[in-house]
Amino acid sequence: MNVIELNHPLIEHKLALLRDEKTGTKEFRELVSEIAMFLCYEAMKNVELTEVEVKTPIEKFKTHILDEDKYAFVPILRAGMGMLDGVITVVPNAKIGHIGMYRNEETFEPVNYFFKVPKNIDKKEVFLLDPMLATGGSAIDAIDLLKGKGVKKINFLCIISAPEGLEAVSKKHPDVPIYTAHIDRELNENKYICPGLGDAGDRIYGTK
Ligand code: PRP
Ligand code: URA
Repeated sequence: MNVIELNHPLIEHKLALLRDEKTGTKEFRELVSEIAMFLCYEAMKNVELTEVEVKTPIEKFKTHILDEDKYAFVPILRAGMGMLDGVITVVPNAKIGHIGMYRNEETFEPVNYFFKVPKNIDKKEVFLLDPMLATGGSAIDAIDLLKGKGVKKINFLCIISAPEGLEAVSKKHPDVPIYTAHIDRELNENKYICPGLGDAGDRIYGTK
């Protein structure tokens, strides 16, 4: 499987705070954003740079910069929006798309209700954002929609993932690398991730 798990004491620390049921909305949102920034850092490890000449106060030299316009961040609504601040802090000129998806509470099947992506998305590398990868249904459908628009390079960034979801996404879309801050134990009978962090959208927006 094409899965990269962030193994770092700082991530474990931030995840412990994030998972704690006592963590309130403000801190939860800040932590989601910070962890997203680390996921983005890892996921962009192998991007290609463009050579430029820079003149320091001392001398001219050749170095490299990122052509930010070649990249797009696409959060899956609602919870994925919580990751956007973090990633645009590090790549502020990337373009942004939105995919609206919710899980039917009885069937656990994803329902798509919104899709808006930047023009020329087929020429950009996309970083799809969603803090939770549970059954994998939402991720699979979102990737299908992007591929339907001609996107060739997609990366999926999630904070917590379940083994069941990782397997499902990897099977359907083996070409999509999945960057996750942590792989949890399993899904429960309601398809919630255990130990997980509860409902990410509700905790980000304080809706329950
Ligand atoms: C959550 C989460 C993912 C999805 C994961 O969204 O943010 O999009 O569930 O589950 P899956 O892997 O089984 O598809 P939810 O449906 O709760 O919507 P929300 O973000 O609007 O709260
Ligand atoms: N969506 C969430 O927000 N949390 C889960 O554990 C599973 C799906």
